[in-house]
Amino acid sequence: MAAKLRVAAALLAAATTVTGQNDSTVGTGASAAGPTWNHADYETSPPVYPSPNATGLGWEDAFQTASDFVSELTLEEKVRLVTGTPGPCVGNIGPIERLGFNGLCLQDGPLAIREATFASVFPAGLSVAASWDKDLARQRGVDMALEFKGKGSHIALGPVAGPLGRSGYGGRNWEGFSPDPYLTGELFGITIEGMESTGVQACAKHYIGNEQETQRNPSGGPNSAIFGGPADAPSIEAVSSNIDDRTMHEAYLWPFYNAVHSGVSSIMCSYNRINGSYGCQNSKTLNGLLKEELGFQGYVMSDWLAVHAGYPAAEAGLDMNMPGGIAFLESAPSFFGGNITTSVNNGSLPIERLDDMCRRIMTPYFRLGQNNNYPPIDASSGALNFFPTANYLYNFTYGPSNVDVRDDHKNIIREIGAAGSVLLKNVNNTLPLKTPSNVGVFGNDASDISVGLYFGGVPFLYNSNTGYDQGVLPVGGGSGTGRMTYVVAPLEAIKSKVFSYNDKALVQYVTNNSEIVVNGIFGPLINPTPPEVCLVFLKTWAGEGADRTSLQVDWDGNAVVEEVAASCPNTVVITNSAGLNTLPWANNGQEVGNAIVDILWGAVNPSGKLPYTIALEEDDYAFADITNSTELLETTDQYAWQSDFEERLLIDYRHFDFFNESVQYEFGFGLSYTTFSMGDASVARVGSGSITAAPGNNTIQPGGNPALWDVLYTVSVSVSNTGDIAGATVPQLYLGLPQPANEDYTPVKVLRGFEKVTLQPGESQTVTFDLTRRDISYWDTFSQQWIIGSSAIGVLAGFSSRDIQATTTFSPLSSSSGGSGGSGGSASSSASPTSAFGSPTTTTASGYGDHAGPWHWSNNQGHKSQGSHWGPPAKQ
Ligand code: BGC
Repeated sequence: MAAKLRVAAALLAAATTVTGQNDSTVGTGASAAGPTWNHADYETSPPVYPSPNATGLGWEDAFQTASDFVSELTLEEKVRLVTGTPGPCVGNIGPIERLGFNGLCLQDGPLAIREATFASVFPAGLSVAASWDKDLARQRGVDMALEFKGKGSHIALGPVAGPLGRSGYGGRNWEGFSPDPYLTGELFGITIEGMESTGVQACAKHYIGNEQETQRNPSGGPNSAIFGGPADAPSIEAVSSNIDDRTMHEAYLWPFYNAVHSGVSSIMCSYNRINGSYGCQNSKTLNGLLKEELGFQGYVMSDWLAVHAGYPAAEAGLDMNMPGGIAFLESAPSFFGGNITTSVNNGSLPIERLDDMCRRIMTPYFRLGQNNNYPPIDASSGALNFFPTANYLYNFTYGPSNVDVRDDHKNIIREIGAAGSVLLKNVNNTLPLKTPSNVGVFGNDASDISVGLYFGGVPFLYNSNTGYDQGVLPVGGGSGTGRMTYVVAPLEAIKSKVFSYNDKALVQYVTNNSEIVVNGIFGPLINPTPPEVCLVFLKTWAGEGADRTSLQVDWDGNAVVEEVAASCPNTVVITNSAGLNTLPWANNGQEVGNAIVDILWGAVNPSGKLPYTIALEEDDYAFADITNSTELLETTDQYAWQSDFEERLLIDYRHFDFFNESVQYEFGFGLSYTTFSMGDASVARVGSGSITAAPGNNTIQPGGNPALWDVLYTVSVSVSNTGDIAGATVPQLYLGLPQPANEDYTPVKVLRGFEKVTLQPGESQTVTFDLTRRDISYWDTFSQQWIIGSSAIGVLAGFSSRDIQATTTFSPLSSSSGGSGGSGGSASSSASPTSAFGSPTTTTASGYGDHAGPWHWSNNQGHKSQGSHWGPPAKQ
């Protein structure tokens, strides 16, 4: 029996019965789960060799400088560049003093420089996604990167688009942005541009299919020594994410297109296997997709201990091994290091490949001017990191200790915190609060942190492996965390706010959830009672290394809400939890309390929108469950861990729309203290001439075929503030793309545009969304191209994925002037999106046998074969 999601699974919700927000019919539904999944089609990953050499496309000057630099290196120095070594940072490349190269300092992570003093902790990617604000995303990228730079870190290990968020139970979803590839792609690219504009290298991670923490690494056998567990346990490989070609392109690879197009310097390959082959040794994903198809000119670094082979990994496209040594803390033995020297010397690895690896690593360094007066490493870094100084092989260059890099970043942290808070329900307009003089505060997320300000370490909190009960959660745990210098807890911020307008007011609180549930608190502990407003703060825990933790660590959330709401008519629930590991508000960084007070009292009008769907029940997410079972945990089959992404493109709202399932709160939903309306949608062709279905044969640029980025159409809508106060909203553009013949199910609609607009009362503004060729194409597995479908494309503009205000259509291939909507097709508010844009139920499973298989590659002929088995790594 499915556990009901807690009644008040709302970020800011007056607690009454929750009903589905919008049960309008979107999609005709289908009873079948999709075409038959033949596991055997996905067990292997095709070989793509040799590894493409970078040519420096787009980075010509830096590439030339890097080439000159590499030509000066000895073999041992080249190997040094590609192999991590113990040092003061999370990852280190040793210096080459004779050439004036001080080495490279790599530091986590996606929301802060993790291992640093006097640094800021920003809101997580998920909070940025909930803000839907491109300007804030860019500025956050800039400000975060400035902190890395100030500490002497050349490479920031972020941002994250893997996990994308296939499963609502994923432990690291909050580090990234959204399960929607478009929303993630836009914010991923913008964040990278912001970061690199400061001269810091971004590292887009984790590539690819890194959608669960469970069995992310191999276990048993020789891996017991590295990853723990009994030494006599059988050797079991990491989970294999089995993904079909179209889903790979339209979902998981999509944001990495944006990253490469935005000029990302490095990409971190992931722990998991993809279609049987390890992420850091998968020639299809590294050589094929990333370096050939996307034209990536930078370097691939491994996740920490994700390398399981020497030269075969290099030949498959890996450029840098982190942290370097097989045993983590020591430089040797290493799959790279001396093994690469030997492999070059004995002819196993061509020197050309090693040279390419070095050029790829040095090009971003010169491109961003890191050879010119880059700040030295903060001398306090080493003590915070895990490598014992006794293991250092090199002298690193240090600057002063404890450099304060925070600047005024607390302001943008607070701003994003408020912008990324989503108002789901506001019964009787309880919010914004006026000047209540008896305020009740309840729940374990209200008070100050009780376990210290750093949630790193293993198992990510020093006193618990399942998170901690008492105190606010400003950030998740693991390598995506940050070392806070302070935190403003909600209770503290609420007291300041209330006393600022009434220094005689009451702020009464009980933050121990057990106390609230076990003993009646109204009367004995809270008096006079009830307070004018009761603010309930709840949280779940999430962190690297642990999936499904919200389900395990619930701390009586439902019972707390029921107890408070039974006695307090004006109850507002503030929670990061909808039974998911997604933390939309409580992952808001060090200013979390101030940010929520800004929303509660209306200093900021809420404008956040859900970057994922809140379903009715936890089990509603089971269509993309974490792969795990007792049987698997006890298996002796080395290759037993197989995660078949059978739902293909239908994750998050694409699933709920396709199967016409009611949800509590749909993707894109969020309320404001004012109201907005939207006018008709009009479509305009950009440029002239007829549009071809395929993009044409152009030289691949970073970001793939450059024609994919051509803007072919714009869609415009006008948006008005129809309420009494100023506010911001997010008009969202969805497209109903045609169902291609003989292809897997196409989602009913997909996000293809969004803008955050601020409007005064009565003000209107026209918002224009650009549609690129990629935006209106699907990935055709047969031709291995992005193809524009031959029938009409539906335009659906609205304020959420189920609040569609304006619809029209256009047909790119039918007319040189842009098809039916080319000059501004009329919007029809009554049109059914599904009927207009093709029902997916018309395609049956029998239509899927036509191709050679979902991994039908046209470009894998004639490549060097490494034998018949592409599953496990070749161990050296
Ligand atoms: C994580 C990476 C991180 C690395 C270094 C790994 O466990 O998956 O995201 O950058 O550790 O800390």
